[in-house]
Amino acid sequence: EPRELVDGFGRVHRDLRISLTDKCSLRCTYCMPAEGVEWLAKSSILSTDDMVRIAHIAADWGITTIRLTGGEPLLRPDVVDIVRRIAAIEGANGPMQVAMTTNGIRLPELMEPLAAAGLHRLNISLDTVRPDRFHELTRRNKFDAVAEGIRAAQKSGLRPLKINAVAMRGVNDDELVDLVEFALEHDAQMRFIEQMPLDAGHTWDRQTMVTQEEILATLRSRFRLTPVPGRGGAPAELWTIDDTPHTVGVIASVTAPFCGACDRLRLTADGQLRNCLFSLGEYDLMPILRAGGGDDELAEMLRLCIANKLPGHGINDPSFLQPDRGMNAIGG
Ligand code: GTP
Ligand code: 5AD
Ligand code: SF4
Repeated sequence: EPRELVDGFGRVHRDLRISLTDKCSLRCTYCMPAEGVEWLAKSSILSTDDMVRIAHIAADWGITTIRLTGGEPLLRPDVVDIVRRIAAIEGANGPMQVAMTTNGIRLPELMEPLAAAGLHRLNISLDTVRPDRFHELTRRNKFDAVAEGIRAAQKSGLRPLKINAVAMRGVNDDELVDLVEFALEHDAQMRFIEQMPLDAGHTWDRQTMVTQEEILATLRSRFRLTPVPGRGGAPAELWTIDDTPHTVGVIASVTAPFCGACDRLRLTADGQLRNCLFSLGEYDLMPILRAGGGDDELAEMLRLCIANKLPGHGINDPSFLQPDRGMNAIGG
């Protein structure tokens, strides 16, 4: 019978997100304080061999897509090698798809090698198209590097190319239309994200979050939006723009959770499996790896992690507790 990672609610897991590092080249105010956070100890970071080994086991258990995240994944020195080795995996359901979510800063030099190594899809984070505002929001003067990175991605021909922005009241909610236009100019799909309670400083509040409803109302003042059916397990709901094939997406994790269709599993840079962005518990692979354990022992942890998955994130429950790890260490 097929080996699959199925949880107690019948959700079959196909998507593994691996955080390559918790470090980042930006200091976005909504993610971490100016001084950064206490980074993971170098000695606790998964080796590339161990990471690839886990990817192989996940592929044997039905995972079809691996998304590399961070922190900023392009800060890992051997990232191109990691992409090449994961893209070469033949899993139970066919060849592995490799995707990445990046801030784009290193794409000008890395786009070509990444594409040659077999990267299939790329999502780039960009919350503003105003260089001065970018500097203020990220505490780094790197807008031009990101813009050049996005042009490199556009030229590479990898599609679909997606741009992610967290919509924030009083921060960038006056440029949602500009962001869509910027994305259209770069052959990319713009996606707006509802802010989730995952920042290292625990500063999230419901009032700053711009809801899907508000995002759509703003966009509709300028574009004709038509819903695209057939979203499947994807977090983004899509709309076509002015009856063209171009689309814009909203990821409404808070006001319209998609947990019922969740097919995701996460691996942190220090070897912990998480069955949810918001899970409080983790499944530590390090003791098995350090003790020279077999693939069967690692597979057992994957199954245990999925078997104990809760039905949803509970952000809207009075008893909700934010996980200790911030977004930079979970990988988004
Ligand atoms: P695609 O496969 O291209 O749709 O990628 P993605 O949207 O899953 O990944 P990406 O890294 O671009 O994430 C965009 C936003 O969606 C980020 O804010 C993520 O934190 C959020 N996100 C991704 N996966 C999940 C998830 O399983 N649950 C929730 N609640 N949010 C998620
Ligand atoms: N809520 C929602 N999205 C977030 N991101 C970072 N922090 C949050 C948050 N608290 C986004 C990043 C990136 C993606 C991986 O997650 O901007 O686009
Ligand atoms: Fe899956 Fe958790 Fe995200 Fe819900 S919040 S979709 S359960 S990872």
